[in-house]
Amino acid sequence: MASDSIQDTNPTIPNSSKSTEIEETSPSTKPKLMIESYFPTLIAFQDWLDVISLNTYLKEQIYAWKAKDLEGIERSNVRSMGAWHSKTDMNQRPEFAEFTERVTLTVQEYFNQLGYDPSWKASCDSMWANISPKYAYNRSHNHGSTLCSGVYYVQSDPGHSGRINFTDPREQAVILPTYTKEALQRSHTWSNVYYDPIPGRIILFPGWLRHDVAPNLYNGTGKEADRISISFNFYQCPPDTVRNY
Ligand SMILES: [Fe+2]
Repeated sequence: MASDSIQDTNPTIPNSSKSTEIEETSPSTKPKLMIESYFPTLIAFQDWLDVISLNTYLKEQIYAWKAKDLEGIERSNVRSMGAWHSKTDMNQRPEFAEFTERVTLTVQEYFNQLGYDPSWKASCDSMWANISPKYAYNRSHNHGSTLCSGVYYVQSDPGHSGRINFTDPREQAVILPTYTKEALQRSHTWSNVYYDPIPGRIILFPGWLRHDVAPNLYNGTGKEADRISISFNFYQCPPDTVRNY
């Protein structure tokens, strides 16, 4: 974490307390090694409560939408695997207005926690539904210059429906990994981060962060085996501007 003040970022001389470490070296000449973290990749998630009726409603509406537009569009989904990707105007459709508002409030909370100017409101740029039958997956991709992207799970089996996999955006760090004992590993040495697709879970991440989704291997039948998720992109709407949705 960045230090709170300039004073804290300067090396400091340890005091002369009787710790073993200090006694083995020279207490007067060994400055403390300061390790700080900058340019972090921030991923947030929240598991919404009491989502059964919400997800039942979303599922009905998404299948109804698919029935009217069977072709959908192709992005990171693989049509040949049967994956359906809706058009990206979900946030403009009245049947999804309540859901869009709830997502927007969550993104706004994320922006607030990150210290963004609260007069610049979280605004949804695009939103779409994904239906992934058995074996369907999503290719590695990012969401371009979007400030904040995310996904919400409507229907999935956490253990089998395919995890979302975020990869280290620092390509050279992947090429030159560090060697660490597993028991000592901490998150700053990871090259990949996986999240389980839990119904009711919302995950937020920077739009530039590369990710893919593993095949849906849920061993069910028919629609019950589909992984259903909703993806979206957000930006900050300038003050005194009418939001887009
Ligand atoms: Fe994505």
